[in-house]
Amino acid sequence: MSNYDLLTRSLAAVWHPCTQMKQHESLPLVPIARGEGVWLYDFDGKRYLDTVSSWWVNLFGHCNPRINAALKDQLDKLEHVMLAGFTHEPVVQLSERLAALTGLGYCFYGSDGASATEIALKMSFHYWRNVGQPGKTGFVSLQNSYHGETIGALSVTDVALFKDTYAPLLRQSTQVPSPDWRLAEPGESAETFALRCADALEQHLSAHHAETAALIVEPLVQGAAGMAMYHPVYLRRAREICNRYQVHLIADEIAVGMGRTGTMFACEQAGIKPDFICLSKGITGGYLPLSVVLTTDSVYQAFYDDQVTRGFLHSHSYTGNALACRAALATLDIFEQDNVLVANRDKAARMTTALIDVAVHPKVKNLRHTGMIWAFEVETTDPHFARHFFEAGLRKQLLLRPMGNTIYFMPPYVLEDVHIALLAQAVLELLDTAI
Ligand SMILES: Cc1ncc(COP(=O)(O)O)c(C=O)c1O
Repeated sequence: MSNYDLLTRSLAAVWHPCTQMKQHESLPLVPIARGEGVWLYDFDGKRYLDTVSSWWVNLFGHCNPRINAALKDQLDKLEHVMLAGFTHEPVVQLSERLAALTGLGYCFYGSDGASATEIALKMSFHYWRNVGQPGKTGFVSLQNSYHGETIGALSVTDVALFKDTYAPLLRQSTQVPSPDWRLAEPGESAETFALRCADALEQHLSAHHAETAALIVEPLVQGAAGMAMYHPVYLRRAREICNRYQVHLIADEIAVGMGRTGTMFACEQAGIKPDFICLSKGITGGYLPLSVVLTTDSVYQAFYDDQVTRGFLHSHSYTGNALACRAALATLDIFEQDNVLVANRDKAARMTTALIDVAVHPKVKNLRHTGMIWAFEVETTDPHFARHFFEAGLRKQLLLRPMGNTIYFMPPYVLEDVHIALLAQAVLELLDTAI
């Protein structure tokens, strides 16, 4: 197989996601033959440092030997069994371990992130119906939020590029101000701004709680909004406000969970327990599609009944897939055995130090950082900046995927100092030459 063969065949047979396919007339696909650690290799041995963890999923590198070994072992025991009426060891162990980590006792499984969003929305709606408040059917999300592409998830997403075309298909939802600190007034602190945004949430819910089922948020970092970061006080206040007005709080930790913000779950930094946590992406270390919605005993109990239709009759064929659960268990093992959260703290500090020259570069604005996520805006007049920077990055061995004029790094946690140095130096050179 050669690079050319694969990309030609791919263009003839594969409809690639989130892509205007015609653009590939001039922007070649990047054929990948294999992965190892932070690197992805093409068929000529050319390599790319995966600074975005392959759409934010990879935690411990490509082809991680420990996750590979767990999967090989699982393959010889059980690949999959339907989870309705049946159960298996990996799904039980994973549920127990996630419950111990989150304090939320029941796990409902899906496949991709969007299916977790759908599950959480449906569960919240159905809960209120089961407890005799059928009028609570609405959802509130933050401005610029992203919760996935399926119809329900897109309904609470607020990214015009993805949403506007499908508007006639979508359910109405309300967006309240985002506490993204880039939107603060000059001189206003991130905390004061977050409190001001929480006041706006309170204003909305005080008027509309009777028809609102849940508030859904991406805790601490709104990824698709361009890695918009905000102060944890917003989450603390949102929890209080949701309690006061009897509205569920859904924490969409699909992108930010699994250590990405520096704690296992972003909500920990606000000291809050949401009613629902959605996890996906990194949960399997970036190996297999798996998502899970964790919820409270009281939500679970509202469905527990003699009447079938009071139950949560939602399913996906691959719900709780044994291989995916086993990859997730191996991922949790690595967190424990390697004390990953502590190691990441040092690693993040070294990365931030390495980016000092980038931070003060005249074309760079708002260099920000939460846990293992870094982002900044670039001053440019190029309307195709994202694409041009992506192409220039490839020439420097970097897989970068700018969003508009925002460049971000969300690398696998196995990034080492040598990679950090290469990344910082290459990005600095790109800022000087590629804009
Ligand atoms: C916060 C958040 N929620 C939901 C999703 C949707 O996940 P998936 O693409 O796996 O459906 C994403 C994907 O980027 C996300 O970042």
